Amino acid sequence: MKTYDVCIVGGGSTFTLGFLKSFVRLRDEFPLRRLVLFDIDGERQEPIGKYGEILFKERFPELDFSYTTDVEEAYKGMDFVFMQMRAGGLPMREKDEKIPLSMGKIGQETCGAGGMAYGLRSCVDMVKAVHDIRTYAPMAWILNYSNPAAIVAECLRREFPDDKRILNICDQPENVVRSASRLLGCDWEDLDPVYFGLNHYGWFTHMYDVHTGEDLLPKIKRLTAERGFLPQDAEQRDQSWLDTYGMVQTIMADFPDYLPNTYDQYYLYPDYKAAHLDPNYTRANEVMDGREKRVFAECSEVIAAGKLGDKFHAISDAHAEMMIKVAEAIAYNKNDRHIIIVENNGAIANLQDDAMVEVVCELGINGPRPMRVGNIPQFYYGLLAQQVSSEKLLVDAYYEHSYQKALMALTLNRLVNDAKKARQILDALIEANKGMWPELK
Ligand code: G6P
Ligand code: MN
Repeated sequence: MKTYDVCIVGGGSTFTLGFLKSFVRLRDEFPLRRLVLFDIDGERQEPIGKYGEILFKERFPELDFSYTTDVEEAYKGMDFVFMQMRAGGLPMREKDEKIPLSMGKIGQETCGAGGMAYGLRSCVDMVKAVHDIRTYAPMAWILNYSNPAAIVAECLRREFPDDKRILNICDQPENVVRSASRLLGCDWEDLDPVYFGLNHYGWFTHMYDVHTGEDLLPKIKRLTAERGFLPQDAEQRDQSWLDTYGMVQTIMADFPDYLPNTYDQYYLYPDYKAAHLDPNYTRANEVMDGREKRVFAECSEVIAAGKLGDKFHAISDAHAEMMIKVAEAIAYNKNDRHIIIVENNGAIANLQDDAMVEVVCELGINGPRPMRVGNIPQFYYGLLAQQVSSEKLLVDAYYEHSYQKALMALTLNRLVNDAKKARQILDALIEANKGMWPELK
């Protein structure tokens, strides 16, 4: 049986431990030969690397595991590169969230002005990283879930138009399917969704029962109205995520056609959400005080003890498992279904061909084959066409170093929506992103 060489870009991420454990759990399904963690911040990555050494020595001794800050060592000979970099780190996430919020507009990791700030940083870092990967691993599959995935996908589409081995993907649609399964009391893999949208901006039009073919969307609607909507792993979630999933009930009451992606809340209720976010304590603070502390405390404990102890429990990490299953689909030409970001080319019939859209795809050795959803209704078309325009203008701004295009991008974003506000926020973001953005003129 072939075994695979995998690199994780963003080895110092708070999500990496979940990956390391999931690779052990799924070792029979997806056999690894070599795993390399790469991060530009060696100091941050080191405890995670050391944790990995202890974990694999105990649970997967035949794995060739290492961690590095050297691009050649990281990429050479890789079959798969999983990319989860966070351009600017959590301190810049905090600024992305707080700067717009201090001006009365939603500050969010991937949506609105904050997402656009992050988007420009990610364009810079991702373009460089993918060129590095292609220098050392021309045939590697690049599975990107670095954010904001919509903007990154648009940028990589332009930078590498002929590269068919770059896949952009997000776990949130699958998370919503998992949540629906909790509500329905079934296994999430028994649900066969139909989905359309952009990354972090989409809807499920159907949710079929794979066994009977019944469309369960009406039942999901009824149950959501009665009981609300929870993440599948609600017991492990912070309050802000519970609030986010809770908004699905409100969205479905106002727009009962479809089951929304949780991120739709920002686009549909920008004023309400802005008024309910705390400008002094945002999700970045919650992550730094919560997950980040927990992950690095777990590393310190394990490193000090020199052994894993009780740290390897059975709780599955949905995010990591999803990515490993995506790699499996390609490696074993499974042609199973995943929700992936692809160039539209008619998948959403009435949206422009060169938009990067998120739809259900069959995924195998030759990449994703999108499933068409036909024309989408006027309301959804209007929302998405506006956002596609905003994201494309932002990527224009990146390539042309154009202040004007960035101003247009922010003005068109529903979470800003006003040219004077857009200019004010843009000027503050330029200041905060010095050296990390292209210089806009
Ligand atoms: C979901 C989204 C990711 C996003 C993450 C943020 O998984 O799909 O794109 O980065 O949430 O989670 P956090 O817990 O860091 O706020
Ligand atoms: Mn995502």
